[in-house]
Amino acid sequence: MSSMTLFFLLLCSPTLSFALDHQLPQHESWPRWLWRRASSSRNVPPEGYHNPLQNGGSMLTQIPMTFPIGQGEPINTIVSGNSDTRVLVDSEADGGLRNFFLSFGFSGECLGQHSGSDQAANLGDGNGYKNETSVIRWNYGDPQLGSCKETVEGGNHFRYWVQDGPQGNSGAIFMAVSYELPIALQHDIIPNGYNLGRDWLIGNITRSSVPTLNVTDSTTYSSSTSFGGYTYQTDIKYVSGLLPDTNDGINHNITVGVGGINSTDGLVAVLDVKITEGPPSASAAWRPVPSQSWYLPPLILLFSSTVLPLLALS
Ligand SMILES: *[C@@H]1O[C@H](CO)[C@@H](O)[C@H](O)[C@H]1NC(C)=O
Ligand SMILES: *[C@@H]1O[C@H](CO)[C@@H](O)[C@H](O)[C@H]1NC(C)=O
Ligand SMILES: *[C@@H]1O[C@H](CO)[C@@H](O)[C@H](O)[C@H]1NC(C)=O
Ligand SMILES: *[C@@H]1O[C@H](CO)[C@@H](O)[C@H](O)[C@H]1NC(C)=O
Ligand SMILES: *[C@@H]1O[C@H](CO)[C@@H](O)[C@H](O)[C@H]1NC(C)=O
Repeated sequence: MSSMTLFFLLLCSPTLSFALDHQLPQHESWPRWLWRRASSSRNVPPEGYHNPLQNGGSMLTQIPMTFPIGQGEPINTIVSGNSDTRVLVDSEADGGLRNFFLSFGFSGECLGQHSGSDQAANLGDGNGYKNETSVIRWNYGDPQLGSCKETVEGGNHFRYWVQDGPQGNSGAIFMAVSYELPIALQHDIIPNGYNLGRDWLIGNITRSSVPTLNVTDSTTYSSSTSFGGYTYQTDIKYVSGLLPDTNDGINHNITVGVGGINSTDGLVAVLDVKITEGPPSASAAWRPVPSQSWYLPPLILLFSSTVLPLLALS
């Protein structure tokens, strides 16, 4: 291993730097560190997540700049830590989380480019406030480029964080879903856009509309979705007691909480996801969507440097 590689590994991995600080012999310890890291004792309560409120966390995000200052957005959907462990891996491969998102019409950011401000969440897992892992957008039926349309025209989207800190490692995925206006309107949120964003996402899973004004903490659904050769069975349960039912302190509350409706109705949709069908072996996995769009900019460059001049000549 070159010293440069080691340098980058150290940058990326707190576990590795810890171990090296303690001068463990390098070569024979490698697999053990990796193993230890991979199995860092996940413990999942029956409800599928640790309640952030019970350990100094919050179900509202932190945003760098709001008016008035200090408003947050509701974390209103959770993928339970009791889900299939493959679904809890942040990957498009092997039936992972991003393939699950694709199964109900949501894709990663347009051409892999991050847009929009970062928001931080404290899930009460001992990690404190952390910026979102990523932003996922409704893809308008186009898994590869649809999230570009969402970025410009607005639509449903969510940020997400993983509850995996040392004081509460459930592996659950916490999502702040909201329906935003077009970029020309500064991506504000539509009226009732947090509750509706959550329920339209659930409606995309169940393929039937969720009556937002009628959901309660005893509402449940069950439905299956498929993508890339994997089928997911999702059991959905709305729970109260995590999010407040309020208009206070919620970002854009002046325009979102209208008509006697609070910006957040106090309900969180908890998704328990099981893989019921998959390719016979991981290596046979069929991937219709490129697992990353990182190579698109080079392709565009290639196109503009080779094809366009040819077109101009003809
Ligand atoms: C989140 O990212 C921003 C840059 O986009 C950075 O300034 C900020 O410190 C980060 N916040 C946390 C909690 O890591
Ligand atoms: C699916 O999502 C779109 C975009 O958010 C929404 O317009 C539509 O109503 C959703 N479908 C259902 C059945 O909820
Ligand atoms: C919501 O509930 C009310 C009565 O409680 C009912 O009249 C109405 O049809 C329901 N709406 C939907 C969309 O289910
Ligand atoms: C809206 O939130 C307030 C607390 O901020 C609460 O007193 C009120 O009952 C809520 N309204 C509805 C319709 O849930
Ligand atoms: C929005 O929240 C702020 C607190 O951040 C509160 O002072 C204000 O009254 C709320 N606005 C509305 C319209 O509910």
